[in-house]
Amino acid sequence: MIPESFIQELLNRVDVVDVIDKSVPLKKAGANYSACCPFHNEKSPSFTVSPTKQFYHCFGCGAHGTAIGFVMEYQGLSFVEAIQELARMAGMTVPQEERAPNQPAQKVVIGLQESLQQAANFYKAELKKSPRAIDYLKARGLSGVVAAKFQIGYAPAGWQNLKAAFPQYDNEALSVAGLVVENEQGHRYDRFRDRIMFPIHDQKGQVIGFGGRVINPEDTPKYYNSPETPVFQKGHELYGLFLARRAIRDAGRALVVEGYMDVVALAQYGIEYAVAALGTATTPYHITKLMRQADEVVFCFDGDKAGLSAAWRAAMNALPALTDSLKLSFLFLPKEHDPDSYVREFGKEKFEAEIKVAMPLSQYILKHLSENNALQSQEDRVRFLNEAEPILQQINAPRSAMFLRKKVAELAQLSIDEMQSLLKLPNLNKAPVQAKPKLTRTTLSLQKRFCLMLLMQPALANKNDLAWALGNADEDILLQQTIEICLHHPHSKPVVIMRELEHKVDEKVLSELARELNVLDDTIDFSLEISGARNQLQDAYAQKIEGILLAQVSEKPLSALTENERLLLKSLGNKPSQKRA
Ligand code: UTP
Ligand code: MN
Repeated sequence: MIPESFIQELLNRVDVVDVIDKSVPLKKAGANYSACCPFHNEKSPSFTVSPTKQFYHCFGCGAHGTAIGFVMEYQGLSFVEAIQELARMAGMTVPQEERAPNQPAQKVVIGLQESLQQAANFYKAELKKSPRAIDYLKARGLSGVVAAKFQIGYAPAGWQNLKAAFPQYDNEALSVAGLVVENEQGHRYDRFRDRIMFPIHDQKGQVIGFGGRVINPEDTPKYYNSPETPVFQKGHELYGLFLARRAIRDAGRALVVEGYMDVVALAQYGIEYAVAALGTATTPYHITKLMRQADEVVFCFDGDKAGLSAAWRAAMNALPALTDSLKLSFLFLPKEHDPDSYVREFGKEKFEAEIKVAMPLSQYILKHLSENNALQSQEDRVRFLNEAEPILQQINAPRSAMFLRKKVAELAQLSIDEMQSLLKLPNLNKAPVQAKPKLTRTTLSLQKRFCLMLLMQPALANKNDLAWALGNADEDILLQQTIEICLHHPHSKPVVIMRELEHKVDEKVLSELARELNVLDDTIDFSLEISGARNQLQDAYAQKIEGILLAQVSEKPLSALTENERLLLKSLGNKPSQKRA
């Protein structure tokens, strides 16, 4: 849990221009900065960054967000990871509100990561010294360049080689990191012995674990991996993701394969957007992680039986993570191949041609369900529905779900209504496609315009504003909350005030405001705009209130009016009719 106050301070402290400029060099363009959008392919820059608003916005694809959003999107980090990254850049320490009970103390984790990096360096140096290991890699067709790129190493045979890298071999961090194991007598020895070492990196490029492959085919297991540690959770990490990041963005696609060697071989042959799940099934977490960086994910597992069942498992695990903007497909290789052998035999072009015609998830599901089912008898179709139900239940992406339901109904020879009345399926609400929203111009209400101006110049909010801004429609609440927040944060940047508003006003109203903020010309005279809008609003609100009061009092017989109401009626009645705003 990161305290909200810290996030706001961070957003006030970091400059979104600096943050973005580090990854995407920006050019000054008027009051803003611009560049070619890193989130879609374009030749002329439509990506702008506003130093005053502290937001970025792309007029081409609609991508927009804060410094935090940028780091999440661009580096594929989670919210918390992005905060940590930005805090590091700003030299701030993220306060921990409360540590979860089984989370390790920060101190151990730091020692842990250093140890892992040190071990990786050691293994890499050992590879250079081992002709046997080098020969093995050469025999498998690995180039020196790609071996260096993936920082492949070698753990020598013998029990305590790591002593050479770690003078304090009994350091706690070594066992927490899974670099050593202890026998029952408490005796330590190296976990990885006589193995080719594949370091596993997190998304910042830090070593978090290893996979070690035997050289001697008699040794078992073929691959031995680091255990789960505080920095390494297999269900969360993907081998090769750090190195593939750029290529995944450029291709708009990630390729998920089974093995370390598949990733490495594909990269050597120019397919650099491949990653591997680490000896576990692909999880929804993996999919979500990849979706942050690409709209298309292709699974390509080994052509053998194990590969086929891994593919089906991946498909099933992906269901909850599906969105309507994600394209998932499956590439099935000939029985005798895995991606490594296939790309070596047929090359990049053929492989990518296969990727282009990979089987879409929906087709795969239908094919799988009807594979051993002739759908001839009523019983066949009942079984088909039974098997389809749990699958359909897990898909929440409205459009994808609807098309699949329709197909399933057709195959079962039911109408879609008949089928939906039989199966327990989630309601498909018309959720907007999550992909980059397109810009739509809306005419701004006076309230929103006033809020927008206040966001830019919160110090111009006035205590008296709270007195006239009454009512409880969504827009009234937006107005009240904005005034309130600006009074509390007179020197905050728009990005911080937007954040404060997040939990307090209707989502739809807020997203409209965010859109307008993105396209707002910030060279206008805000104080002039604010006082103008304030006058108009005051009038408009006063009229509204009078109207309500009048309606109330005029419904009562004169005799039932209180003294106050009588006075009010008199004063209102005497007022010259007001100009409409
Ligand atoms: P494979 O057995 O398909 O190996 O395992 P591979 O990737 O083709 O490797 P090479 O070509 O024989 O070197 C696929 C993946 O399953 C995990 C590893 O992550 C491996 O890359 N695995 C496999 C293990 O974790 N342990 C094992 O003993 C075997
Ligand atoms: Mn292989």
